Amino acid sequence: MVVHVFDQASQVAEAAAAVFTAQLLEKPDSVLGLATGSTPVDTYAELIRLHEHGVLDFSRATSFNLDEYVGLPPSHPESYIAFMKRNLFDRINLKRSYLPNGMAGDLERECLNYEALIREAGGVDLQLLGIGNNGHIGFNEPGESFVFDTNLTALTPSTIHANRRFFDSEEQVPRQALSMGIGTILQARHILLLALGQGKAEVVKGMVEGSITPQVPASILRGHPRVTVLLDRAAASLLS
Ligand code: F6R
Repeated sequence: MVVHVFDQASQVAEAAAAVFTAQLLEKPDSVLGLATGSTPVDTYAELIRLHEHGVLDFSRATSFNLDEYVGLPPSHPESYIAFMKRNLFDRINLKRSYLPNGMAGDLERECLNYEALIREAGGVDLQLLGIGNNGHIGFNEPGESFVFDTNLTALTPSTIHANRRFFDSEEQVPRQALSMGIGTILQARHILLLALGQGKAEVVKGMVEGSITPQVPASILRGHPRVTVLLDRAAASLLS
């Protein structure tokens, strides 16, 4: 795990966009793993800017998002598909983008299909991750064991509370999601994890310096051969 600390959140976004740029220059038909949430928004804005300036071409790339809420239709502004369209897809020339379908009739089959789609695409080259306050990656919540396959997961009270800011009330936050599993994430050839702000400082310390435990799902990334962690000063403030 290589950890870089930047003074400003804007520099994290620029550095993350530089990693995407290097990836796409090296392999224009890359498979990109994407995330939602507050953390990647500035990175996506930077990718859009680079695309508009003719630096980045997504036309041969494919993307797979980490997760999607169960039961929110794509027309709902807080569905992850709507988030991705608003913050990235509508403004770049990516032609193939996939998210798990949280409205599927058979959610377990949907998880299997999603895994198969990723495999058929050749696996993820570069996976972007945020980290939850409780150490989750994707929606792989803390628990007794790591869940390796793409799965239907129940959001923990802390995640429901954290995501309440996107909805009118906590009751409206979906209780379930489909998420790439830890094993699926670990199969990515390069993992790029971003964390911003003081609120993430404790969990970042747990991920980087604590024990590898399913209680802090992101800690398992330390076993992956190529993980780049980009932090602002506040998120890095508890690292020794
Ligand atoms: C989003 C995702 C989550 C977020 C995490 C951090 O697709 O998979 O793991 O990355 O909850 O969210 P923010 O960035 O809003 O703090």
